[in-house]
Amino acid sequence: MSDGALDYGNYLKVDEIISLQELVSEQHGKPAHIEMLYIVVHQVYELWFKEILHELGSVIEMFDNEYVNEKNIGEAVKRLKRVTAVQELLIEQIKVLETMTPLEFLDFRKYLGTASGFQSYQFRILENRLGLKPEDRIMYAQKTYLQELSGRRKELVEESEKQTSMFDAVASWLERTPFLELSNFRFVEEYKAAANKMLDAEAAALSGADELPEEVLKIHIDAIEASRKGFESFLDSSEHQRLVNNGQRRLSFQATMAALFINVYRDEPILQLPFQLLETLVEIDENFTIWRSRHAVMVHRMLGRKVGTGQSSGYDYLKRTVDKYRVFTDLFNISTFLIPRSELPKLPDDLKTDLGFHYSATKS
Ligand code: HEM
Repeated sequence: MSDGALDYGNYLKVDEIISLQELVSEQHGKPAHIEMLYIVVHQVYELWFKEILHELGSVIEMFDNEYVNEKNIGEAVKRLKRVTAVQELLIEQIKVLETMTPLEFLDFRKYLGTASGFQSYQFRILENRLGLKPEDRIMYAQKTYLQELSGRRKELVEESEKQTSMFDAVASWLERTPFLELSNFRFVEEYKAAANKMLDAEAAALSGADELPEEVLKIHIDAIEASRKGFESFLDSSEHQRLVNNGQRRLSFQATMAALFINVYRDEPILQLPFQLLETLVEIDENFTIWRSRHAVMVHRMLGRKVGTGQSSGYDYLKRTVDKYRVFTDLFNISTFLIPRSELPKLPDDLKTDLGFHYSATKS
């Protein structure tokens, strides 16, 4: 195999990859056995970040159009599910790193200088491509996240801030969802009526519950009324816009209603893949949240309350990012307003036909 023909080693550049672990402790003449693990784990993460970016970028491209080819949705779901499978590995890998004890970490930590995960530019691009907004980022040590980067890496991260994100692409796709406003079916109105009917029935059931003490009854009635107000505000476009304006919601009213529609009528054939797509995005967001939380706890274990090599407050800073850096919160919140399938507005026959496979067979 020395004639230059492709073999395992030269195809995968194995020699190059396994020559890239340079122990900084060795360079200081104080070799720390455990540093190899630290480097390998980080490098493996970076390779997986590359793969996630590859999948995510291709899916954004499929959606970043005036018209999304229905045939692409299945492939998009498949690729996004691949991302979640990789994320599960990323979460699991923390255990491998945790075989290093805090004392062993101190054998080489002093040689790391200001090198920090802060400077993982692939991770920053990933956050941006998913849809984390620059203005939602937490400042640390009076610095923005870009100030940690320089040269080509900084340029690539800046570029990713301007590119269409997964959030933007899916939001526009949702906004274009048909079926919500038809001459014989106005989804929002019908849904409001169905929610009220359900709450009326709950209130009526309570009025016959003589055995309940008055104060308990009041708690239940107040909860029903609070829920009624919640539905009213959720299904009101101007209230929604007010919440968007003050940063409490991000998806537009139209997109939110479309996501609700897809969620509740997910069993209709034509909505099954769109539903899986939304579910997978929620799963990706959930997995990043779990990773952030897991990484923060590991940092607490390794460093206690020490500041990070990137000069942040370490554990406290990382803990704050867990909730703050979620992207698809609006999709999670839809669950508050789901009503049981038995209470859903009945779809008119012609719409039901359109949502069946018949629709794609005749109109594609
Ligand atoms: C002993 C193990 C580790 C320790 C003690 C540690 C510590 C820290 C600390 C303290 C920060 C906050 C920034 C700073 O002040 O430096 C941070 C950020 C970060 N770390 Fe780690 N880390 C470890 C392992 C890892 C691994 C394996 C990865 C995988 C790539 C990673 C990726 C990141 C990323 C992406 C950030 C930026 C998070 C953000 O700003 O939201 N870290 N790390």
